[in-house]
Amino acid sequence: MLSNQPDGGKRSSLHGHWSSRMAFILAVTGSAVGLGNIWKFPYIAGQNGGGAFVLVYLVCVIVIGMPVMMSEILIGRRGRRNPVATMKLLGEEEGSSSKWGWVGGMGVIAGIFILSYYSVIAGWTLAYVVKSATGTFAGASPEAVGAAFDSFVGDWRLIALCHTIFMGLTVFVVARGVERGLEQAVRFMVPALLLLMLVLLGYSISTGYFGQGVAFMFTPDFERLTWGSVLAALGQAFFTLSIGMGAVMAYGAYLPEETSITGASAAVVTADTGIAILAGLAIFPLVFANGLTPADGPGLVFNTLPLAFGQMAGGVFFSTIFFVLLSFAAWTSAIGLMEPAVAWIVERFNKTRAQACVGVGLLIWILGFGSVLSFNVLADTTFLAGTIFDNVDYLTSNIMLPLGGLLITIFAGWVMCRNSTSDELGNSGGLFRSWRMLARFVAPIGILLVLINAVL
Ligand code: PFF
Repeated sequence: MLSNQPDGGKRSSLHGHWSSRMAFILAVTGSAVGLGNIWKFPYIAGQNGGGAFVLVYLVCVIVIGMPVMMSEILIGRRGRRNPVATMKLLGEEEGSSSKWGWVGGMGVIAGIFILSYYSVIAGWTLAYVVKSATGTFAGASPEAVGAAFDSFVGDWRLIALCHTIFMGLTVFVVARGVERGLEQAVRFMVPALLLLMLVLLGYSISTGYFGQGVAFMFTPDFERLTWGSVLAALGQAFFTLSIGMGAVMAYGAYLPEETSITGASAAVVTADTGIAILAGLAIFPLVFANGLTPADGPGLVFNTLPLAFGQMAGGVFFSTIFFVLLSFAAWTSAIGLMEPAVAWIVERFNKTRAQACVGVGLLIWILGFGSVLSFNVLADTTFLAGTIFDNVDYLTSNIMLPLGGLLITIFAGWVMCRNSTSDELGNSGGLFRSWRMLARFVAPIGILLVLINAVL
């Protein structure tokens, strides 16, 4: 049984603990680094005009993302339960209301919806492992690479199969528990991914279009910045850091008492942002070198990187490794997306991890067909934000995650007493005061301002 002291200090988690500080950092980094950095960041930046968007994104990561992440971890560690139960318990303990559990509930739902399309795109990366290894892209022209992508996503049965395989792999790992295997996978994957991004960067520089790519990414043209693109930048900051939905909170529940939350958060934010910027720097020069358009949408990575690999010496090898690593990165993120729902079902309904995983996995797999069909059969069926995929993405990244982040910072900054938070952050000096200012004022006001202006 879990102990339930009101001081919250010595609770332990039902699901086990990370073996070390490094294990926790690796797990959160594994959840943060994924398709969001390499697939999503470049295409969202491209659609929103580059420079100014990237700047707003970086500001959002630092002044909103960082305090939200710290808040999530400290709440998770103090409650030591799934996000729903933790928010409920702490809400009561801090003399507010058990209704705070609903914030955790929204996170559980957001995770399920995000994974429903995330798994589809991750399925594409699996297919691209095979395509790369069989030499599909060797020496291919931009037109051929583009046509290969279009005909691939046009075949709904094929991408449904890839989605099925990826969900199967995800359910398998989550069912096995928190820690086993995950640490090892991330320890190897993140450095390897970084290395391959550097290889790609080297190639990008050699195209002669590097300056143009850099200019696109870093020359802000504020004329083009709309509230819609500011919201997209905010949503991307949440998505890429895995915050606003309780995933990091769920991981925080397994964090040993003595680990520094500030240090761990800073490490994760730095690694995640670095990989996204690197991906942009590798991809945009390729876009310009090959006469493609930055605003190409979700196919951008699949239309640019295989081209670069196709021209490179050893390209078949590098391309295969790259898509293997990207699939791995997606896999470790998918685990984070499922964790809140699974931990909730295990604790609330007394199910085994395996039962919870299969149930949640099936639900997500079925929901995923909405996104599978968005790229072919239902590509022309659009409403509100676009296709079913566009709507699920908009609703989760741009509405649910920022709203979750808003409520989480209000909870950590205003509902929890000063002592509870300084106790968890292990500090009452300048660093603590900065966090508290960001969590109480800057983050909530910033999020509200963007949400109100963009949505209304
Ligand atoms: N941060 C992941 C990515 O950038 O691909 C996506 C993600 C994973 C979001 C886990 C939320 C989450 F809980």
